[in-house]
Amino acid sequence: MRNIVETNVIGLYITSKCTLNCELCASGIPYYKDAHHMDKEKVLQSFERLFHLYDKVGHADLLGGEPLMHPDIEEITEALFDYREFIPEFRIITNGTIVPSDKLCESIHKVMSGGTRFLVLLDNYGKCSVNIDKAKEKLDYYKIPVRVDKYYGDMNDQYSGGWVKYGDYTPNHKSESEILEQWKNCICRNLNYHEVWEGKIYPCAYSYAISALGHDVMNDGEVVDLFDSSTDEERRNILKRFNLRPNGACNYCYSLSETAKRYPAAIQLPKK
Ligand SMILES: C[S@@+](CC[C@H](N)C(=O)[O-])C[C@H]1O[C@@H](n2cnc3c(N)ncnc32)[C@H](O)[C@@H]1O
Ligand code: SF4
Ligand code: SF4
Repeated sequence: MRNIVETNVIGLYITSKCTLNCELCASGIPYYKDAHHMDKEKVLQSFERLFHLYDKVGHADLLGGEPLMHPDIEEITEALFDYREFIPEFRIITNGTIVPSDKLCESIHKVMSGGTRFLVLLDNYGKCSVNIDKAKEKLDYYKIPVRVDKYYGDMNDQYSGGWVKYGDYTPNHKSESEILEQWKNCICRNLNYHEVWEGKIYPCAYSYAISALGHDVMNDGEVVDLFDSSTDEERRNILKRFNLRPNGACNYCYSLSETAKRYPAAIQLPKK
């Protein structure tokens, strides 16, 4: 019998470049030695190999880094139209520093014309989000659904009460039972996020970021490689197991529970 594979969110990471340099960035952007845009062809091939693996997805998000910096963001967005039968909602998460181009707005409309919902999440990092008003104006002009999340000022007033600190990419030396307990309380696990970068699917945001930064912490069978010789059924078997046990990154993670300490969002490090 075919395994049913479901996830609430697929994160489609298309770049590790960004206009900002946030110290606690969940994607670890300030710490890349080789920040780059993912090759457009590889992004499109990943889509072809990815979406049909799933039976049910809540939504899929284009993000990074800053997705609007990608030179092919318009074509990448338009390509999502082809996957409307698999994904009921696509979203772009952007930091309010770049005004979406007319061509991008038209690409979003093309996706929406297939009956798929689309939402732009415009993160407002206060004085860092230098083009947030113009970006909102442009999206409103094109009648594209947009949600602005506030990430500045009083912490109680920030979306989600502020940011969390995932970890510093070094081992925590926790016992197996401590790791199990931490994982059971993890928001990422509860929300069932799958994260895709450079043709690989990771079981949570931190396992993606630590791997993308070059730390070899994941065990066999914990990551799906969309470009190896596995069959779809073998890939689906790995996806099915994502949510059943901790992964290799959990021993490097500070824990991500509902009650994890919150920090002010988007504190900037100097740009290298
Ligand atoms: C990694 S960012 C990429 C998209 C875009 N550059 C932005 O910042 O909006 C994706 C989402 O993760 C959130 N995020 C980043 N670091 C975080 C952290 N340490 N804790 C909680 N959320 C975080 C951002 O606010 C954003 O909504
Ligand atoms: S804006 Fe900040 S949170 Fe978003 S990707 Fe860039 S560095 Fe990370
Ligand atoms: S590494 Fe483990 S504890 Fe940390 S976010 Fe991922 S699943 Fe949760």
